[in-house]
Amino acid sequence: MQHVNVGIVGLGNVGSGTLNILAENAAEITRKLGFRLQVKSVCSRSVHEKSLPHSLGPVHKTANWRELLADPDIHIIAELVGGVTVAREIVEASIAAKKSIVTANKELMALDGAGIWDRAIRAGINVAMEASVAGGIPIHTVLREGISGDHVTALQGILNGTSNYILTEIERYGSPFREVLAEAQRLGYAEADPTADIDGFDARSKLAILAALAFGERIVPSDIHTEGIRRISPIDFQYAHRLGHTIKLLCSARRTHDGVFLSVRPTLIPQSTILASVHGAYNAIWVRGRYGEDTFYYGRGAGPNPTGVAVVSDLMRVAREIRAGSPERVSPFAHERLGENRPLPISRQKCAFYLRFKVQDRPGIIAALAGILAEKQISLDAVLQLPSETKHDLPFVITIEPCLEQAAQEAVARMAALDFMVEPPLALPMERPL
Ligand SMILES: NC(=O)c1ccc[n+]([C@@H]2O[C@H](COP(=O)([O-])OP(=O)(O)OC[C@H]3O[C@@H](n4cnc5c(N)ncnc54)[C@H](OP(=O)(O)O)[C@@H]3O)[C@@H](O)[C@H]2O)c1
Repeated sequence: MQHVNVGIVGLGNVGSGTLNILAENAAEITRKLGFRLQVKSVCSRSVHEKSLPHSLGPVHKTANWRELLADPDIHIIAELVGGVTVAREIVEASIAAKKSIVTANKELMALDGAGIWDRAIRAGINVAMEASVAGGIPIHTVLREGISGDHVTALQGILNGTSNYILTEIERYGSPFREVLAEAQRLGYAEADPTADIDGFDARSKLAILAALAFGERIVPSDIHTEGIRRISPIDFQYAHRLGHTIKLLCSARRTHDGVFLSVRPTLIPQSTILASVHGAYNAIWVRGRYGEDTFYYGRGAGPNPTGVAVVSDLMRVAREIRAGSPERVSPFAHERLGENRPLPISRQKCAFYLRFKVQDRPGIIAALAGILAEKQISLDAVLQLPSETKHDLPFVITIEPCLEQAAQEAVARMAALDFMVEPPLALPMERPL
């Protein structure tokens, strides 16, 4: 085999970045591989309106992805369409045609990664998905190869650039959430429908994949407790700073004797921790292993070029394995021993909390809240109130000592029903320095 031939489906952000790198960096890629990685065909519905980089040479264009699957000379299919409908068809058809797959699709791999790997292994092909989580950070390779000799006990990450950008702007300029979101949409950092980003669903898919890789378990998005950032306001950053913390949409996976705790939610993290310094559209992942202890990975989470690098690097790796005659790889989802690390309800974990209230001011409020905490056997840690001019919408904060999350949530539900509450209390977990 002279070349390894690639067919690319999807020429949007990631597909165009991938093509540009394959064209511009072709000489270096060939030098590193020792053979050529040839783009044989590309596909998108509007492909005939697109011009391709000339240096790619002759490339077949089609609007019908099945043509790529039917071509016996294409060895690897890059699925860069996204979503779980057409993308799933492309992936399943690739497995049936025994063509290895490179994908950037977090949604599909989070939902059915283990099943896809199962079928791919039986078909004797490879699946590579580095671009699906934290585009520019090679975290799959780290978990599958770089630190695979360790026993991962915990993983935390900032995995959604849009929500991190919004939180960073609220913190920096003290602007309200709605204003910052509107500006992010205007600048193209947030989509017209921002739900997946700001309500945590995008980060949840990514955490499902990383936790599955880290713990060798079949973990799906619905296993993960998820809350978004809509209720975070500038006042929360003021209080968080007073407490030596900042607020991040934190993706967290922690292994215990009984199983794993998984969550995506706004969390107070100490300003002294390395994750606190991850700003704007950047992503980062911190991993703790039993033997290697702490490692940290940082980089761009999205964008045509960073994600394109991940796709091209995957194509190179899969191509090398095809040339070496060993395309099959061991599934990263070691689901043969399912259940060892089963997901646990977060209500069973112990955690400190930041409780922010907005109340109609009157005597006896702290006593009423402290009474509810005492009933639930929860120890109050601190009460903070910044100077405020308003008495009918008065914000203040109580922090509580680590307690069973279920007790904290029951207390918060009781507090929400008190007649002086202007809005339900905001309860955010508080991380301690590790
Ligand atoms: N954007 C990022 O920075 C980023 C980062 C990491 C991972 N990802 C993942 O990468 C994947 C692609 O994302 P993207 O941002 O590149 O999406 P995008 O810009 O919307 O591109 C999607 C491409 O798929 C094509 N397409 C859609 N339906 C098709 C069909 N039935 N047949 C053939 N082509 C079809 C679209 O073109 P036509 O309309 O012409 O068909 C378009 O070229 C997703 O899984 C995403 O989650 C993206």
